[in-house]
Amino acid sequence: MCGIVGYIGDKPAQPIVLDCLSKLEYRGYDSCGIAVSSSGIEVYKDAVRVGALRKALPKLDGTVGIGHTRWATHGEPSQVNAHPHCDCSGKITVVHNGIISNFQLLRRQLTAEGHNLISETDTEVIPHLIEKYYDGNLEEAVETALRDVEGSYAIIVLAAGEPKLVAARKDSPLIIGIGDRENFIASDVPAILDYTNRVIYLEDGDIGVVTTGKIKIKRDGKEVSRQEDKVLWSVKDAQKGGYEHFMLKEIHEQPKVIRDTLIGWVSVAESAVDLAAMRGGIESMLILACGTSYHAALIGKYIIEELLGIPVRVEIASEFNYYGQTLAKTVAIVITQSGETADTLKAMKKLKAVGCLVLAIINVVGSSASRIADHTLYTRAGPEISVAATKSFIAQLMVLYWLVISYSEVDARRLTDLITELRQLPEKVQQVLDNEDKIKEYASYLSKYENVFFIGRGINFPVALEGALKLKEISYIHAEGYAAGELKHGPFALLGEGTPIIAVVARDSTYQAMLSSIREVKARGSTVIVLAEEGDETIGELADLVITVPKVEAIFSPIVNTVALQLLAYYTAEERGCSIDFPRNLAKSVTVE
Ligand code: AGP
Repeated sequence: MCGIVGYIGDKPAQPIVLDCLSKLEYRGYDSCGIAVSSSGIEVYKDAVRVGALRKALPKLDGTVGIGHTRWATHGEPSQVNAHPHCDCSGKITVVHNGIISNFQLLRRQLTAEGHNLISETDTEVIPHLIEKYYDGNLEEAVETALRDVEGSYAIIVLAAGEPKLVAARKDSPLIIGIGDRENFIASDVPAILDYTNRVIYLEDGDIGVVTTGKIKIKRDGKEVSRQEDKVLWSVKDAQKGGYEHFMLKEIHEQPKVIRDTLIGWVSVAESAVDLAAMRGGIESMLILACGTSYHAALIGKYIIEELLGIPVRVEIASEFNYYGQTLAKTVAIVITQSGETADTLKAMKKLKAVGCLVLAIINVVGSSASRIADHTLYTRAGPEISVAATKSFIAQLMVLYWLVISYSEVDARRLTDLITELRQLPEKVQQVLDNEDKIKEYASYLSKYENVFFIGRGINFPVALEGALKLKEISYIHAEGYAAGELKHGPFALLGEGTPIIAVVARDSTYQAMLSSIREVKARGSTVIVLAEEGDETIGELADLVITVPKVEAIFSPIVNTVALQLLAYYTAEERGCSIDFPRNLAKSVTVE
């Protein structure tokens, strides 16, 4: 998720483009760049924040400009991979937000036709395609070029000698801001709210041709009209997309994150580790991480053992660093959102030192972990601002599901069923989000307590751990996650009216055992809130309160269950008036041991 902007008017473009970009840095901040058109086009870009670029820039003439702040997906944060990208002549420049899934094919074709592509990005194929089709009409060349492109995009095109900006979108947001003798284009309203609150939301397939005094929107070659809206948010509110906190916004982004992971998978599959080739030789697998990523690792163990039949060991990185022994032929999967967690980096170096193959699942492109790993698979969660990890966790699970399903040898029928279910997960998660008000109700009940237990079995034991961690982190309630079968070996002593229990129940081999656990804790006076599949009457009779989630294959139940628990933690913390996005004593990336 990057941020793109364009300005065309009668004022110097440079300061306005930079100012608008700085308001989009919550979308990505690992590199940035601008292009301004006067006699020719001047491009300045680097792997720095907007503030640093502003300081380094000479004064650029020109009243037309485009800019980009990056969240790297293809190609590490670097000067050459930063946007804008140019064609061979340097006369056509493009900024892009999205993923071009067939870029490798287009790259090969363009190179064979003599184009010189210099970056590792998917984006760079676009200016070269426009160059290929350009015959004096810029918007037609853009339209033709986009017919060759697959995936998601929001783009702004600036060409030398053309007093206009051409913009287009498909599955990525793009708006046009209407000014007085000036117009703006941006990924999102926060960028332009200080200049205008009159906006047009482009629709998928729209192409906008924007000049100082005119905005024309075309679709399939024909001009169309689009409604003008008035935005009433402050810039800060708009960065949160109108949500109270980044955490709630990020929770609501998860259907899109799941879709993006599935879209992005095509290009990753082409470059992914050949687990199949290694598979024959894999004696054991080790998954290693910290915090929420460790809970994803625990779920990974269940997925791999069930679908690949390979024994998996899961380790907390900070513990592994002091005693963990590994066999050289072990394949290690390391999971980290930030890619900068000190304990995890140290463990990776230890694994490498004994000759393990290290595969990393990371959200931040170009982070230190990606430099140590033999192979890196990137999650497509985009920047996660809130300290409490939510969408990055779901994206980690999606990568694990897809990685394992891609290499499992289950029969064709089962494989089809699994992939069909996987593709339905965005809608299922949306159904959980649509049930928010019910969860909010239960949160106000929970907010009165200082101790809460989460219980689960099998693949939902780690979900209980994650639910407890989310509640702990942001509401400061002492919450513990337990394997339900463990309660009778000690924690039972803590049960009673003062300690509500949240039971995560899935329709799998652990179902009956979970029913008994619920009966046991109820018998000891605890109130039980159950997370269970919609339509489960048995649970309804047993539990005090029920949060229902949509029906999914048990192996995918951690996805819908976790989203429900994220909402429960969020609303409980909100009820308690906690600083949700930046909880006390915590950091988004723990870079010290
Ligand atoms: C989770 O909400 C926390 N922010 C924390 O536990 C986090 O998961 C842990 O620090 C690991 O971070 P990483 O995924 O960036 O390595």
